[in-house]
Amino acid sequence: MTRLFISLYFASAFLSPLIPVHGVDRGNFKTCQQSSFCRRCRAMEPSNSAYELLLNTLKVETSSVEAEMVNTRNFARFKFQFYALIDGTFRMKISELNPIKPRYEVQDALVGEPLLEKLELLDRTAEKVSIKCGPNSATITAKPFRVDLHDQNSLVISANDRGLMKFEHYRLKTPQSDVEEGGEVEHVPVVVDGDLGDEDGAWEESFKSHHDSKPHGPSAVAMDFSFPASESIYGIPEHADSFSLKSTVDTDPYRLYNLDVFEYELDNPMALYGSIPFVIAHGAASSVGVFWHNAAETWVDIKSKGGEGSSVVGGAAAGVVSSIVNLVSGGSEGGGGQEGSRARSNVDARFMSESGLIDVFFLMGPKPLDVSRQYAKLTGTAAFPPYFAFGYHQSRWNYNDQEDVKNVDESFDEHDIPCDVIWLDIEHTSGKRYFTWDKVKFPNPKEMLDHETAKGRKMVAIVDPHIKRDGGYFLHNDAEANDYYVKNKDGKIYEGWCWPGSSSYLDFFDEKVMDYYSARYLFSNYVGSTEDLHIWNDMNEPSVFNGPEVTMPKDCLHSGGLWEHRDVHNVYALMHVKATMDGLLKRTDGRLRPFILSRGHFAGTQRFAAVWTGDNAAEWGHLRISIPMCLSLSIAGIPMCGADITGFFKFPTAELFIRWYQAGAFQPFYRSHSHIDTKRREPWLMGDEALRLSREALRIRYSLLPFWYGLARQHEVTGAPYMRPLWYHYPTERATFNIDSEYLLGDSLLVHPVTEAGARYVTVHFPGEGKDIWYDYFTFERMPEGATQIPVTIEKIPVYQRGGSIVVKKERIRRASSLTHNDPFTLVVALDAKNEASGMIYLDDGQSYEYRDGKYIELFLNFANDKFTSRVVNVNPQYTTKERLEKVVIVGIAANYTKAEVECQEFGKVLVDCVYDDQTQVLVIRKPWMNMGSPWSLQLLK
Ligand code: GLC
Repeated sequence: MTRLFISLYFASAFLSPLIPVHGVDRGNFKTCQQSSFCRRCRAMEPSNSAYELLLNTLKVETSSVEAEMVNTRNFARFKFQFYALIDGTFRMKISELNPIKPRYEVQDALVGEPLLEKLELLDRTAEKVSIKCGPNSATITAKPFRVDLHDQNSLVISANDRGLMKFEHYRLKTPQSDVEEGGEVEHVPVVVDGDLGDEDGAWEESFKSHHDSKPHGPSAVAMDFSFPASESIYGIPEHADSFSLKSTVDTDPYRLYNLDVFEYELDNPMALYGSIPFVIAHGAASSVGVFWHNAAETWVDIKSKGGEGSSVVGGAAAGVVSSIVNLVSGGSEGGGGQEGSRARSNVDARFMSESGLIDVFFLMGPKPLDVSRQYAKLTGTAAFPPYFAFGYHQSRWNYNDQEDVKNVDESFDEHDIPCDVIWLDIEHTSGKRYFTWDKVKFPNPKEMLDHETAKGRKMVAIVDPHIKRDGGYFLHNDAEANDYYVKNKDGKIYEGWCWPGSSSYLDFFDEKVMDYYSARYLFSNYVGSTEDLHIWNDMNEPSVFNGPEVTMPKDCLHSGGLWEHRDVHNVYALMHVKATMDGLLKRTDGRLRPFILSRGHFAGTQRFAAVWTGDNAAEWGHLRISIPMCLSLSIAGIPMCGADITGFFKFPTAELFIRWYQAGAFQPFYRSHSHIDTKRREPWLMGDEALRLSREALRIRYSLLPFWYGLARQHEVTGAPYMRPLWYHYPTERATFNIDSEYLLGDSLLVHPVTEAGARYVTVHFPGEGKDIWYDYFTFERMPEGATQIPVTIEKIPVYQRGGSIVVKKERIRRASSLTHNDPFTLVVALDAKNEASGMIYLDDGQSYEYRDGKYIELFLNFANDKFTSRVVNVNPQYTTKERLEKVVIVGIAANYTKAEVECQEFGKVLVDCVYDDQTQVLVIRKPWMNMGSPWSLQLLK
């Protein structure tokens, strides 16, 4: 090991007492100025587009339009394809007409080949062609190139409106390539048409001690998108920043490049572990989405008024900003450069990628939930989680040995705290050789796992993608013998530095490696694993401690040299979890639903894994930022998101500890995790109050598991995220556009976690402009409309239920969720202004795929005219249940009812008592006790 490089990261694990480290070392990561393609793209001037369609080559087919395109300055030729897809979606692809080497096309982000829709030719002239598909239409202008997309009412997206398209075609490095090919160019490179490729760094570039050889030279692609009907723009996770994206006019662009950023900072556009090149632009009139289907390093410039008002209090301040009606304003820039008088949009996004194609999906909405559905049709919905996934996960780097695991497990029982999963970090392995166990500390993993199984619990073990280069390790030997590793630029096996020391990295872009890797999860190969061991795939950006920007060099080679790492970097983690999912499915012959957690992510990761926000810190700011970070992931298709509860680095105060357990109880993935160097912090170690209140939060979470499970079902069917921004359901309410301190769960609960030290009140914005009623979830008190100051004690979790919704609960709290499978339900029926409410329940075995064969029951619950009914929605359900109805709580009911008449198949008609509280206006019906699997009704009587 000649170049032993110890990164701060590495140091933190082993040398942290010696090296004080505070915050991110920005110098480790590039700015746009330090990245030559970003510099080239950003230096382009608007309104001067070089690209033109050759309309004499135009072909209009059943579902597509095709034409050749030319860069009028260097005469490079491109193929332009425009497709009409199902469900209000269009796709635009631009690639080189005759590339000297294939351009990389992303493989596994899409769930399948998108389905085409018939288009109708509206008009075709010498300048433009217009087509229509359903309510939407597209006008493609030839010179300069521009695509305008209209919904029923107005222009909603315009591509290359600012004329900032760029496509650097592959070329051979000749003396001439240092000179512009098209002539007519002054010698100030780049700025004029941005496709000169002769600037410093175009053919090779260095960053710190790292050299990038760039054998194929400049290959950037870029395109701008304007959203004239939008007022704010969201998405492009992962950044530790506000939910509503901020204008990047005076800052670096948002960066999308999967990176392991040690001690990441808040409120900035630096890259983090995942990259989802998808935005939703929203205005009071409509929502639209743009998915930039490209896996290379990408920078995104944003123009928006958004983000400015984001604050912990949200609501009021945000409302002022977003109530400025800023649909369009006059300006000189626009129209791809020629039509200077075209109105300029106030919201736009410009994607700039280092290589790959221009391959863009336009999702026409028009409502936020439509965009989520359209996006899910392209990239898939989340793997349907096993029920336990919504329970509590107790993690730690590391639980030391089997005895430690047993003690932790027993302590949960002793303290009457539910827990579903205990996690094992890297130290459980034999010397960081994944798929093995430390023989001294974990001599009998099967016994340990069986013990947890017997108690109704599960375990998760970590499996990272780096492979220890050790002749005694079967995986390394197999990989060397069969050529499974990623190569360096010279075609030799790439060696980097990670947890095990010298490591190599499996090439998941090779089918045979995928097959080999997924087979490692078979019970016969992963000795000691059982059905109840699930998987955590970490460090898969990939993290390379001594690599450029703590990752793999871009000139490394995949797939037998077909692709450079530069082309595929952002999907490395996606391929990793894809292989893991495949393996976990195979180990039970596709019977059981696996649970996988991934740190690196891309569009489509949701089909395989949940995602957490990586190595945060025990600080209030990190608690606060977990909300916008998870909201961004949620609207970008990854609903199963969480942050390390109580913070990974550093040690929380008791107050922060409590607040984080309370907040986490209302976020999808609920896992406490902490750094090896920090003090132990299981709930019983944090003092009496912390124990009491974390237990309380956990019990609240467990009571709501059926509600979470219903959200998962809804997501699977509709693509709707579990966590939703307020504007998803109140799209015209401008005061909600900049709020990232509160959110909705489904369309029923409004959550505003306390994220400030010593908070005595929070300002909650109750949406609906008075048309919706909100009730305090715990006290049933009716809340005022709009921004309202709510006093909070340390006990208080500000959560509210919408009048008109029915929340499904199980109030018997047990050791683990699996033990509650047959327990009875409580239904909380919150009435709206018409004294009505509705909701759903989804029931299945909670663990298998049998629901796909009809083994589930979905119930539609409805309360109207004093009658509560449950109707089975699915035809011919093949599932029966022992679950019964234990309690109905009707909130916001004005009259005193004393009896309810229950009617169901099993009992016929029976009367049960009701208890009414006229102070709270809550009516409780105890033990009506009908089986939940068949239809029933409950008529209130005075
Ligand atoms: C990474 C992970 C962290 C884990 C550690 C050791 O830092 O983000 O969660 O504990 O690696 O595996």
